[in-house]
Amino acid sequence: MKLENVGSFERVEMGGKTVLIPNPTDIPEYKFIGRERIIEKALAAWTCINGTTPLNFRLYGPPGIGKNALVYELARILNKDLYIINGHEELGPEDVACSATMTSKNTIEYVASPLFAAMLRGGIFFFDEIGKTPQSALDPLASVLDDRRSMTSVLAGIHLKAHPDFLCCAALNEDEENGVGLPGFIDERTRPAIYVGYPYVSEVEEILMSRMKEVPDIWVRALLSDFKHVNLSTRNAITLLGYAYRLAKKGNGKSAPLSEKEIKEYIANAYKHIKAGDEDQKKEHNANLKKGLETYTGDLYANQIVSQSKETVH
Ligand SMILES: Nc1ncnc2c1ncn2[C@@H]1O[C@H](COP(=O)(O)OP(=O)(O)OP(=O)(O)O)[C@@H](O)[C@H]1O
Ligand SMILES: [Mg+2]
Repeated sequence: MKLENVGSFERVEMGGKTVLIPNPTDIPEYKFIGRERIIEKALAAWTCINGTTPLNFRLYGPPGIGKNALVYELARILNKDLYIINGHEELGPEDVACSATMTSKNTIEYVASPLFAAMLRGGIFFFDEIGKTPQSALDPLASVLDDRRSMTSVLAGIHLKAHPDFLCCAALNEDEENGVGLPGFIDERTRPAIYVGYPYVSEVEEILMSRMKEVPDIWVRALLSDFKHVNLSTRNAITLLGYAYRLAKKGNGKSAPLSEKEIKEYIANAYKHIKAGDEDQKKEHNANLKKGLETYTGDLYANQIVSQSKETVH
C-alpha cells in the first residue's frame, strides 16, 4: 500500500526527515443533547488564564453513555480538529509518538501518531480507553501533559514542542478508574477527573427522538416508561429501540398501527436478545437440535439439506 494514495496523511519534512502526519478524525454531524454541566467543566479545564497551560482532564463512567460524543461536541464548540488514539493492551510507545516505515525505494519514512499531529497543528488530542493501555506506551505522555508540553520520539530523533493551541483529554471506563487505576504519573497529569454518568431520562428521550427520526414517538415513550428505573446506556437505548422497531417492521403483517401493548412486547423481546444474549432462543435451539434436524432448520430447509446429502451419497 502506498500511503500517498490513501489521502489521510500529509507529508512533512522535519529536520531532514520525511514524516507522514495523519489528518484529523471526521467528527459526526448528529445533534448533541444535554450534558451542559460536563461541557462547562471541560471547557473550564481547557481555559488558559494568565499564561497558564490548559489542564488535561479525563472523563470516566460506565460504557456507552457518551464520553466520545462529549469530546466530539467539545471539538465542535471550539471549532478545532480532533485526533484520537484508542488505547489497548498491544499499544506501544511508538504508536503514541512516532513509528517508522520502509518505502519501496528503501528509504525510511516516519509516521506520526495522532498525538504528534495534534501537538504540531494545535488540535485536540483525545486518548480514548487510556485505562487499557500499558504503562510503557504511556511513558511518552509524561512530558506532553506537564508544563514541558513536548514529546521526544527516540525512533525518529525528533523533539516536538506543542503548538500553543494544543489541548488534550482522555477517557476510561468506570471500572478502570475505580480498580487498579492509571499509573501515578498519568493519574496526576489527567485532572480533573470528570464523572460522566447515565443520562437523564429526558435526555435519552431527546437523543432517541433526534437520532431515530424514522421511529414514531410512541415507541420512544413506550421504551422509556418501561426502562426509567433501569440503568440503560445511551448506546443500549439506541440499539434496543432500533432492534425492536426492525423486529416489528419485519414481523408485523398488520396494516393498522401497533398498539402500545404490542410495541412494548417487541421492546421486551428485543431487550431479551440484546441483554441476556438471547438465552431463551439458545434453549429452544438446543431442544430442537435434540429432536432432530427437521424441526431445527424448518421443513423446507431441512428437506433441501436431506435431498442434497442424498445426491452426494449417490
Ligand atoms: N449527549 C448525546 N447526544 C447525542 N447522542 C449521544 C449522546 N450521548 C451519547 N450519544 C450516542 O450514544 C452512543 C454511545 O455514545 P459514546 O460512543 O460516546 O459512548 P462512550 O461512553 O464513549 O462508550 P464506550 O465506553 O463504550 O467507549 C453513540 O451513538 C452516541 O452518538
Ligand atoms: Mg467511547
